[in-house]
Amino acid sequence: MNVAGTVRVPGDKSISHRALILAALAEGESRITGILESADVQSTAGVLRALGAPIANLSDDVRVNGGGRGALSQPSVPLDCGNSGTTTRLMAGVVAALPIAATFVGDASLSRRPMRRIARPLTAMGATVELPDHGGLPMDIRGGGLHDVEWESEVASAQIKSAVMLAALVAGVGATVTEPSRSRDHTERMLSARGANVTVDGSRVRIAPGSMLEPLDVDVPGDPSSAAFFAALGALAPGGEVRLERVCVNETRIGFLTQLARMGALIEFDNRRDEGGEPVADVTVGGSALRGVNVDEAEIPSMIDELPLLACLATQADGETLITGAAELRVKESDRITAVVANLRAVGAQAEERGDGMRIVGPSRPLIGRVTTHGDHRLAMAFGILGALPGNDIAIDDRDCVAVSYPAFWSDLSRLRVA
Ligand code: S3P
Repeated sequence: MNVAGTVRVPGDKSISHRALILAALAEGESRITGILESADVQSTAGVLRALGAPIANLSDDVRVNGGGRGALSQPSVPLDCGNSGTTTRLMAGVVAALPIAATFVGDASLSRRPMRRIARPLTAMGATVELPDHGGLPMDIRGGGLHDVEWESEVASAQIKSAVMLAALVAGVGATVTEPSRSRDHTERMLSARGANVTVDGSRVRIAPGSMLEPLDVDVPGDPSSAAFFAALGALAPGGEVRLERVCVNETRIGFLTQLARMGALIEFDNRRDEGGEPVADVTVGGSALRGVNVDEAEIPSMIDELPLLACLATQADGETLITGAAELRVKESDRITAVVANLRAVGAQAEERGDGMRIVGPSRPLIGRVTTHGDHRLAMAFGILGALPGNDIAIDDRDCVAVSYPAFWSDLSRLRVA
């Protein structure tokens, strides 16, 4: 097999959500270029609009004339977060700090996802949060009157950390969040770059009371979680090469590239630079014969969204790949342990479930069969990469669900020369 080509993946999803939220919260004109125009980010834009923020249609150059926290007001409709956990949890933090009441709703997948993890700290800060017995959506929040909090999170989750930090920012109080290990740190970086008083000490972050926020001018770098799909393709082609331009290479996000290198792929970073407080580089991935790897709990947060892809890649590597300490996968857009293993087996690979991970033994080829995505964008794309390999024949039940994070995925994939 050979593969060659260059891809510039769309803007980072996590940074795009945060850029819109912070632009709405700052006073004055913010500019966001290169925002990800995907369904999840549209959900954040829609929720902000429902709260009265002047968010224009998403485009390559978005201007937001933010009115500050005081300009957000009582919504007249439920806040529809679609499929987006990030929208729900980050905006829950914002709403909890405002003197308003709102109901968060979402699609069937999002409605099943756990919200007690944010309800608990926001309640500890003084908000009222009501959830159905299953702990998902719809979620009612009555905000306002918050006070300082020191929160110890049971899971390493940037969404929990960010919900608390945003609640503290909007309420003008202080907050400290400690995590079992460090999750992605875009909120901390973006807040610090805009003048908020944020300190980081290992896996502990603190935002000081009365932190202020200046308008922003961000050029959103490429999403490493989207780039990962093409990096995997490059890694699978001995002698081939895929170049990924302008990717965010924040160390809390590039665990997948580290694993690829351990599996035997050749990875080079060049043109390293800092853009708006985030490290950015061009990444070249060259293939070789891959071998299986062990991934344990401490490594999970920096590659949480890439684990379905790693499992798919492991079917082509020599030997065993064992992923442990990854129980969080069960509460993503689908149960990504059960769904990934079932689909791997459906196409003829050797895989088994563990309570907190999975075991895959490779290589298996050719892979032939039908994949059920459960509407999970990352499953569609991970199996799309396996399906692009010569000799494999993989049908995907819902190709359109890639619109959640990467609407142009299939056309970008078709532009790479795979032979
Ligand atoms: C995200 C954090 C991660 C990740 C999600 C985006 C974010 O979730 O899976 O796709 O933007 O903060 P957790 O923080 O819950 O692990």
